[in-house]
Amino acid sequence: MGNTTVIKILSESNKNELVEISGWVKTFRANRFIALNDGSCLENIQCVIDYENTDENILKKITTGSAVKISGKIVESAGTKQAIEIQVNDISILGESNTEEYPIQPKKHSFEFLRENAHLRPRTSTFNAVMRLRSTLSFAIHKFFNEEGFYYVHTPIITGSDAEGAGEQFRVTTLSPKNPDLNSSKEVDYKKDFFGKETYLTVSGQLEAEAYAMSLGKVYTFGPTFRAENSNTSRHLSEFWMIEPEAAFMDLNGNMDLAEQFLKYLLQYALENKKNELEFLESRLLEEEKKKPEKDRSEMSLIEKINFVVTNKFKRITYTEAIDILRQCKPNKKKKFKYIIKEWGADLQSEHERYLVEKHFKCPVIIYNYPASIKSFYMRLNDDNKTVGAMDILFPGIGEIVGGSQREERADVLNKRMKDIGIDTKEFWWYNELRKFGTAAHSGFGLGFERLVMFVTGMSNIRDVIPFPRTPQNAEF
Ligand code: 4AD
Ligand code: MG
Repeated sequence: MGNTTVIKILSESNKNELVEISGWVKTFRANRFIALNDGSCLENIQCVIDYENTDENILKKITTGSAVKISGKIVESAGTKQAIEIQVNDISILGESNTEEYPIQPKKHSFEFLRENAHLRPRTSTFNAVMRLRSTLSFAIHKFFNEEGFYYVHTPIITGSDAEGAGEQFRVTTLSPKNPDLNSSKEVDYKKDFFGKETYLTVSGQLEAEAYAMSLGKVYTFGPTFRAENSNTSRHLSEFWMIEPEAAFMDLNGNMDLAEQFLKYLLQYALENKKNELEFLESRLLEEEKKKPEKDRSEMSLIEKINFVVTNKFKRITYTEAIDILRQCKPNKKKKFKYIIKEWGADLQSEHERYLVEKHFKCPVIIYNYPASIKSFYMRLNDDNKTVGAMDILFPGIGEIVGGSQREERADVLNKRMKDIGIDTKEFWWYNELRKFGTAAHSGFGLGFERLVMFVTGMSNIRDVIPFPRTPQNAEF
């Protein structure tokens, strides 16, 4: 009689089999019925205690949250909610959980409350399901790229360059905050810092991935990225995970094709491999929807939404076409947008992106060929000399989920662009050398992993799809 798991019992156990299992008590009813969860799957197993023959001291300690070890026999369940259950022969308490103090009671808790208890929230079914999906999606990402011949490259987390040129980086330093070394002009002397120069946590692995794409051909990174932007929204984290493929000899069209194929693959994989979790999250959302006025309710259920994205072609439009639609649309004319679109060149805000996706096209949209002035220095200048080969993918309910581009592979054009916007070309010497030795067309994109998990799980706050969120003024756990 070995130690088994709930998933094994539910999928492959035979009646009358003797089992031994450890897990946590979700609920204990009528001094008899334990709903036991061990993390192996979303489902609990019902364990029925012969309470007349169980020590009262032990019965008292079977409380929500306690860890127990049970041995017993698999039997057909007398109840209707489950096919089988464990008839308990012996139970021992591994770790008590004081009911008065344990924050995760068997009732609905608000997500705000659970964020304050981020160390215990994985014990709720919702977080359990979300984090299972997160894990499955991570696996599917590696599986996809492996099948497509991409190599996984571990790009550095500490960097000396600002990959996005947006100046939103966290400094990494070992200099004393009270008495930093100063140079002759009485400024902090970063030559004395740990790396002998200014260093930061990376905002993207792209630049280093480009170096490897120019050798391994097709590569991807999947790691944490950090942004010190003060955006307290439901879609921004200060620490988030990003997947960044980069491929040589691939142009913008190939990049859009790859991104669309990739996203559909991941969603399909979740549908096929995490059906129970998705059904659980779908019913949670339906409950939430019922509280809303009818007109605000979603037309599709969670699984319908995912299926819709898998089976429909993403709409592809240029930035110029997007601006034309937005300029003519009702909320723009009636000044319902916070930012009114007046002319070509305006940056698209999330209200505009969501209008295009949710109201106008009602499907995922890829916008490409943006004005150079609102995009990063490394994007390839188009022949019109004013747009770059950038592309953003917008998802319903999420907004921007992917941002990517064809990269500027021409040394002279890149150098001019960097100088025009005031980037120190010396700092990027190695990036520029990629254009000097064997340069070639290449492209890539970044998928915000948490935004993908939000879409798949239907969670509406990005803080609830990462185990321990980092946001401005918040790094408690
Ligand atoms: O559009 P971004 O800034 O693109 C890049 O970083 C490129 N270097 C990617 C590339 O071409 N290799 O970020 C890519 C994606 C966004 O579309 C969004 O999904 C996500 O990363 N993202 C964030 N997710 C959570 N919190 C934040 N603060 C995010 N900033 C970007
Ligand atoms: Mg972007």
